[in-house]
Formats: sequence, C-alpha cells, structure tokens
Amino acid sequence: MLVNSIIQNAAIALNQRCGDRAIFEARVLLGIAIGNQEAVYPHMNIQINEKQERQFYKLIVERINGKPISRIRGWREFWSHRFKLNESTLDPRPESELLVEKAVFFARSKLLHKNENLRLLDLGTGSGCLLLSCLSELEHAVGIGIDISQEAIIQARENAQLLKLKERSEFFRSNWFEGLRNLKFDIILCNPPYISREEKQDLQDEVLIFDPEQALFSDKKGLADYEIIFSNLAKYLNSNGIALIEIGYNQLERVSDLAHLSNLHVYNVSKDLQGIPRCMILCRPNNTIL
Ligand SMILES: C[S@@+](CC[C@H](N)C(=O)[O-])C[C@H]1O[C@@H](n2cnc3c(N)ncnc32)[C@H](O)[C@@H]1O
Repeated sequence: MLVNSIIQNAAIALNQRCGDRAIFEARVLLGIAIGNQEAVYPHMNIQINEKQERQFYKLIVERINGKPISRIRGWREFWSHRFKLNESTLDPRPESELLVEKAVFFARSKLLHKNENLRLLDLGTGSGCLLLSCLSELEHAVGIGIDISQEAIIQARENAQLLKLKERSEFFRSNWFEGLRNLKFDIILCNPPYISREEKQDLQDEVLIFDPEQALFSDKKGLADYEIIFSNLAKYLNSNGIALIEIGYNQLERVSDLAHLSNLHVYNVSKDLQGIPRCMILCRPNNTIL
C-alpha cells in the first residue's frame, strides 16, 4: 500500500480523537513506527515493510485510546530541547515556558551584573525541563532540581546528561524544601501540583491516565502545595532573589492572598499566550533591585 493511503486511512481512524490534527498525527506516528522520529510526508518516497506497518497500526490504536504522542515516542520538545519522559514525569506544557522566559529575562537584566554565578532551584522538577532550559540560556548558572518522585529524579538526571548540563545541575529527591538544608538561591522556579481534586472529572484522558497523579493534584482546592511552598520561600531566597511560580487558570486571587499571608511581595504576574495569568513573580519585601 502507498504511504499516502496508509496515512489517509489512519487519519480517518484518528479523527475522533485528534480532530484537525489527525493527518499530522498519523504522519508523526508513521515516522515513529519506522524509527524516523520525524513526520513522514509523501515526497519523502519512503518504503514501509510489513513489520513497520504492523507497528504503525499498534501506535494508532494507542493514540485512539488517548496516549499522547509525547508518551508514545517518550519525549517532549520544550524550549527547543528534547526532554525524555517516564511514567513519573509530567508531560511539560507549553505555557510553562513562560517561567523560563521570565527567569532568563530577569537573570540577564537584573541579576547577572551583580552575580555571575547565579544559583537556581527548581521545586518539583519532573523531567527537569524548567531548570535545564534556564541553565541552557545562562551559561554561568548552576542549579538544583528536587522532586518527591525518585523516578522523576532519575529522568531529570538523564535529561541533564543528554543536554550536556550535568556539570552545572544536581537532582535529588526531597519533599519540597526538606532536603535543602541552609542553601539560598537567586532564582526559584516552581510549577507545583495545583488542580483541585473536585476538577478531576473534567480532565481529558490524555492527562488523567498518562500524567502522574502527584504531579497534578493538590488538596485544599488545589492550594495546599502553594501554602507549604510560600511559607518557606523567603528563607531560601537571596535578598534580591526572585521566585517564579506557575498558577492555575482560576487561582490568581487566592494564590496572591497566600503570598501576602507569607509576607511575600507579588512583583508581577504574566499572562500566557491564551491570556491566562500564569507566571507569578515573588520576592522578599526588602528586594532592592526590582
Ligand atoms: C506540575 S508537575 C511539574 C513538573 C515540571 N516542573 C514541569 O513543569 O513540567 C509538579 C511536580 O511536583 C512534584 N511534587 C509533588 N509533590 C511534591 C512534594 N511534596 N515535594 C517535591 N515535589 C513534589 C511532582 O512529582 C511533579 O514532578
């Protein structure tokens, strides 16, 4: 069968799950099935053997059952880098790139002239995507990523190695700040679990089945982890340091209240590409460079 008709047939099968993206996803899945990692297009003149065709249909069934492409191929592109995933890492979301953008901007514009060797901390690092993306931009910075999940830590370490950032990063298991002793940081990044358990029923299969539960949900209507993190944040921030915290789509007011209760200054809140307040920048009230 010609490649094009294989793709067309698969796209029909994928239509209900993927809508407008069905053809593109079929092309990507065919690429994965033939070990190409890139989408397959008719002009590529690719020959497919029976084994590859069987593998392709197996992947199509997985996708129809909700498995995201990133989980099928085992990596997600974030900040133009490939991050390998495992069952214990969140599949990084594009909106989280905003934290990287803002962190790098502040490091370059406000912090670097004062301190060349910036120290970064990534709380709940998952695949390591936030910390490693920042380190890839800030060549003298060093950083620590912590996570409650040892499997996530293993994956983050592998990603650091693949991105040649192993020398400037350290990853270890910790329940939020517990393993950090008396360290202080210039930049703290955190995308905590923030979905309330009541919202579980609204989530798509892609998220509910394939993202780890402890990366998604937090008690107290999604605020329990912000509470713990905010009450410790000032202690781990250098006096002119900043924390960049991701917030959920309906949480701005409640998370700002929590920050004030912990005596933190909300310096700025940035919106993501959908216009949703997403990245909250916090600092100590005595910060003199912001
Ligand atoms: C929303 S995910 C963010 C992952 C990654 N930073 C990203 O942006 O893709 C939250 C992460 O926090 C971790 N986590 C949950 N509870 C934690 C705790 N008590 N201490 C440390 N990490 C925790 C989860 O394992 C998960 O990796």
